[in-house]
Amino acid sequence: MSSKLWGGRFAESTSTLVERFSESVSFDARLYRHDIRGSKAHACMLGRVGVLSEDDVDAILSGLAAIEAEIDAGTFEWKTELEDVHMNIEARLTERIGDAGKRLHTGRSRNDQVATDIRLYVRDAIDEVLALIDALALSLLNLAEQEADTIMPGFTHLQIAQPVTFGHHLLAWREQVLRDHSRFVDARRRMNLLPLGAAALAGTVYPIDRASVAEDLGFDGITENSLDTVSDRDFAIEFCAAASLLMVHLSRWSEELILWANPMFGFVDLPDRFCTGSSIMPQKKNPDVPELVRGKSARVIGDLNALLVLMKGQPLAYNRDNQEDKEPLFDAIDTVTICLQVFGEMMPHLKANRPRMREAAFKGFSTATDLADYLVKKGMAFRDAHHVVGSAVAHASAQGCDLSELSLDTLQGFSPTIGADVFDVITLDGSVAARDHIGGTAPAQVRAAIARARQR
Ligand code: ARG
Repeated sequence: MSSKLWGGRFAESTSTLVERFSESVSFDARLYRHDIRGSKAHACMLGRVGVLSEDDVDAILSGLAAIEAEIDAGTFEWKTELEDVHMNIEARLTERIGDAGKRLHTGRSRNDQVATDIRLYVRDAIDEVLALIDALALSLLNLAEQEADTIMPGFTHLQIAQPVTFGHHLLAWREQVLRDHSRFVDARRRMNLLPLGAAALAGTVYPIDRASVAEDLGFDGITENSLDTVSDRDFAIEFCAAASLLMVHLSRWSEELILWANPMFGFVDLPDRFCTGSSIMPQKKNPDVPELVRGKSARVIGDLNALLVLMKGQPLAYNRDNQEDKEPLFDAIDTVTICLQVFGEMMPHLKANRPRMREAAFKGFSTATDLADYLVKKGMAFRDAHHVVGSAVAHASAQGCDLSELSLDTLQGFSPTIGADVFDVITLDGSVAARDHIGGTAPAQVRAAIARARQR
C-alpha cells in the first residue's frame, strides 16, 4: 500500500527513483508564503459558505500560521516523498491539527492551488521589479541632469557620427526601461485574476464564493474558464518576455559601459567596488558587473524559450509538464531582480570623464553634418553640400585638424558662400545647441525633458 496523500488506489509504493525524479519541493518550497496565504483565504471562504465549521477554520488558520513560522525559522522538515510544497504543508497541517487539516483541500485541487500560488508569487515579483525600475529610472534622470551639457560623440555603426550630450544618451536608456515598466504593469493587470475554484479542471460541486477569495487575495477578479485556468501559464511567459526585453536593454547598456570604461575610450569610470582585478595582470580593472549583466541576459532569454517550448505541445488542461515552469520562471525573477539591484547601485556612481568625451567628439569630424546643413541654409542643395563637406573633411584630415580649426579662407576655398558665422555651427557646442526641439540633443532640451519627467 502506498502511504501517499493520494495513495488510496495504489498497491505499491512509488519507486524512490521516481520520487526523486518527480518531486518539486526542492524548488517550489519558495512558494510557501503564497501557498499558505491562498490556503487561508480558501479555508475562510469554505467557512463563510458553510462547508467548514468555524472551529475547523480557526484550527486551520492557526495551524497554517504556525507552519509559516516554522518555515520562516528554518525548523520545518521538508520531505521529498511528499512531492511538493503543497503536500508538505498540508501533511504538516494534519500532523498539527488533526482531522480539520484533512478538510482544507475540500473544493480545490493542487492544479488551481499551484496556479494561484504562482500568480501571487509573480505578482510580488513584478511589484519588486517595478520598484527597482523606478529607482533606476530616477538615478538616470539625476545623472542626466548633471550631464546635460556634457558633450560626447554620438555613434552610428559604432563610428563617430554627430556630437550628442551625455544627458541625452542617459535619457535614451531611461526611455528603454520606461517601456519595460509599462510592459510589467500590463502583464500584472492581465494576470491578476484568481484561479482558485477551477479545482482539478472542471470546477467543483461545493457552493464556493470565488469573488470573495479574489478580494481577500488582492485579485482584481476571477478567471472565466476552469480548463483554461489550470493550464494557463501565459502570465509566466509574459513575465519572462518582459524580463527578457529588460535584460536586452541592460545588456546593451553594459556593452556601452564596457567600451566606455576601456582606456582607449576612457569616457567613464566605474567605481572600484563594481569592478574586479586580474589574478595575473596587476594593471587590470575589469568591468565585471556589466559583463555579467550582459551574460545573464542570456539566461533570461533562455528561460523565456524554455517556457514557450514547455507549453507548445500541451493539450488542455493541467499536465504535469507544468511543474517544469518553476525553475525557469524563478531563475528569470532572480536574475532580473539582482541585475536591476546592481545597476541601481552602480548607476548613481558612474563618473563621466567629460574632457575625454569632448576630445573624442572633437576628433571625429562630428560636426560635418552641421557644415552641410549650414550650406543648405545658404541655398545649396543637400547632395552638393554633402560633397563639398566631404572634400573639406578630407583636407582637414590630411592636415590633422578639425573642421572648426580650418581658417575661414580655407573653408571659403570649398564654398564661397561660407561666412564667419560658420564657426557658430561647426563647433561642438554650436552643433548640439542647434538640435533644439523635443527629442533633440540640445542641453536645453535635455533639461526640458528632465523637467517634464519630474512633473510626471
Ligand atoms: N507540483 C505540481 C506542479 O508544480 C503541483 C500540481 C500537481 N498536480 C497534479 N495533478 N499532480 O505543477
